[in-house]
Order: sequence, then structure tokens, then C-alpha cells
Amino acid sequence: APLKSHNTFGIDVRAKQYIAIYSEKELKHILKRFYAEELFVLSGGSNMLLTSDVDATVLHIKINGIRVVSEDQDEVVIEAKAGENWHQFVLWCIDKNYGGLENLSLIPGLVGTSPIQNIGAYGVELKDHFVSCTAIHKQTLEEKVFSKEECKFGYRESVFKNEYKNLYIITSVQFRLTKRKHKLQTSYGAIQAELSKKNISKPSIKDVSDAVVYIRKNKLPDPRKIGNSGSFFKNPIVDASFFKQINEKYPEMPFYELADGNYKIPAGWLIEKCDFKGFTKGDAGVHKNQALVLVNYGKATGKEILDLAKAIQYKVQQVFNIQLETEVNIF
Ligand code: EPU
Repeated sequence: APLKSHNTFGIDVRAKQYIAIYSEKELKHILKRFYAEELFVLSGGSNMLLTSDVDATVLHIKINGIRVVSEDQDEVVIEAKAGENWHQFVLWCIDKNYGGLENLSLIPGLVGTSPIQNIGAYGVELKDHFVSCTAIHKQTLEEKVFSKEECKFGYRESVFKNEYKNLYIITSVQFRLTKRKHKLQTSYGAIQAELSKKNISKPSIKDVSDAVVYIRKNKLPDPRKIGNSGSFFKNPIVDASFFKQINEKYPEMPFYELADGNYKIPAGWLIEKCDFKGFTKGDAGVHKNQALVLVNYGKATGKEILDLAKAIQYKVQQVFNIQLETEVNIF
């Protein structure tokens, strides 16, 4: 089965077999028939780079549904099934005036994979509004509810990328959102600029969402037009003494000081400084507006994208002595 249309990088590889799953019942039925090693779970395919054919049966989780679990005057708990499109879900929340996820507008992918890398943008992370998720163990078929603590969320991290990697399939996620007195996060410069351009002084959640959509559309390539998986690398975190050295050498380098005293440095800046912004080799390239995003202009193979990523890692290591870690999952 061809996978080109099932991964946002648009990599043309094949799987042994492709099965779309529409319910938890179907999922359990399939899990009974296959060994876990024979299966490859695909969600939106928006955070992965496939570097070869997949010698497994691809399961595409398409379980849908959104419901209110509980609510009071101020807050609501919403459950969304794994197969819901993330952005459509965010828009549904905004339409109902449920606040919290507006900064996460237009992130590609589906609800079910949002906890795996604790998606985040413009000062908000999934974990800020996460209550729990339900997942099915691939081997035992046990259904488990993971609390926020059990998910061990970090910057683009969770238990599902570490201890429980490839062990569970998330089937639904619950979020706690506000019904009034929304706590807007508009400190990010680009959001402020967008709001003031429109003369909005008291933004609604819809205004914030619109601003984020506008910013992302301007800066990030649309995966339906140019294959990509968003940020390819994580922003590296360095300790204070290392930061001091590099900051002295490059005072113009942007940075964020973290609560624990470490510093987060934008990988996009490091990559641009190494002259890779807009670079292309064949159909593999570094996006011209955002150096953190690697792109497939058409027929690049996963291997070509990976070679480019390695060249970038090598150069950044040489110039800055910083090891860039991939944010995208590589298969
Ligand atoms: N920068 C450059 N050159 C570039 C790109 C960025 O100098 O080519 C500089 C910018 O000028 C800015 C800083 O780097 O000073 C940060 O750039 P930006 O605001 O674009 O954000 P980012 O750190 O590159 C992160 C997330 C994005 C998220 C944005 C907005 C990671 C790995 N990426 O990118 O998430 O949308 O912040 O909050 O943390 C994703 O994970 O796929 C993703 C797109």
C-alpha cells in the first residue's frame, strides 16, 4: 500500500498492508490478530520521516468523536477521539467559546498523537490543558487511562516517546478548557504585532486563533503544498556557563531563559547562521522562511532528507559545539 498521501513529508514509500481503524472495538480486534512488531501505527503522519518501505501493516487510527465529559459555570472537560483532526478540534472549541487551545491552532496532525510530543506553540503546550488520555496496550489489549503526571510531559517529550515508546495506542484525550474568564497567552511578539495591527486591544480566543493562523501561514510551509513535518529539530537547551560563552561570542543570538536556570536557543537561528536557510539539494531543502523546517519539494526520498539533517547537525556541532536533536520521529 502506498504511504505518500499518509505522511506530510510526502515521502513515497510503501507498507505491506494498510488498515484504517474506525473504533476501539475494531482496534482491539486487529491487535488480537497481529503481533505488535507486525504493526506500524500512523496518525496524521505529521511528525515522522519515513526513510524506507515499511515492512509492517500500517494502522491508520480514524476513531472520531468529540463530547463534553463534565462542566460547571467556569470550565468544561472535553474528550476528543484520537482520529479527530487537531486543527478542526481547536476550531470546534473556539466556536463553542471553550478557551485554552487557541495558540495551538493550525498544528498539523490528529488529536491522538498530540500528547506524544506534547505539542506546543506561542507560549502554550498541550500539557497546560491536558487532563488524561486513554490508550490500549498493543500486546495485552489492556485499556489504561494516563493521568497528566503519568504522561511525564516535558518540552516535546512524554512517556510515550520514552518508557512506553511503541507500546500503547492512544484512543482519546481529555482537556480542561475555560468557558469564561479565558486566560489568554498573547505575550509572544508576533501575536502582539498581529493584534495591534488589527487594533484589537481586548482579544477574544477567536482573535488569538486568527492571529496564530495568520502567523503560521506566513512563516511555515503548508504541508499540502510542500512536504514537511514542522520543526525538524528541537530547540537545544544549554546550561548557564555554556550559554555565557556563546552569548559573548554572538550577542545578537536570540534565547529564552528557562525557570531552571538553563537556556533554550532557537535551532532555526543556529541553522541560519550556518548558511543552510533556503539551501536545497535535489528536492530536499531547508525552508526559506524558517530554517528549522526541512522540506520535500517533490520527489525527495526520506534518506535524502535525513542526509540533509545530518549535514546540518554536523555543521552546527562544528560551529557552535551544540548537538541538535531531531524533533521528528525517524523510521
Ligand atoms: N530564527 C532565525 N532563523 C530562522 C528561524 C528562526 O533566526 O530561520 C529565530 C527567530 O528570529 C526567533 C527565534 O529563532 O528569534 C524563534 O523562532 P520562531 O518564533 O519561529 O520559533 P522556533 O523556536 O523556531 C518553536 C517551535 C514551533 C512553534 C514556534 C512558535 C520547536 C522545536 N518549535 O519554533 O513548533 O510553532 O516555536 O511557538 O520548539 C513544531 O514543533 O513543529 C513547530 C512548528
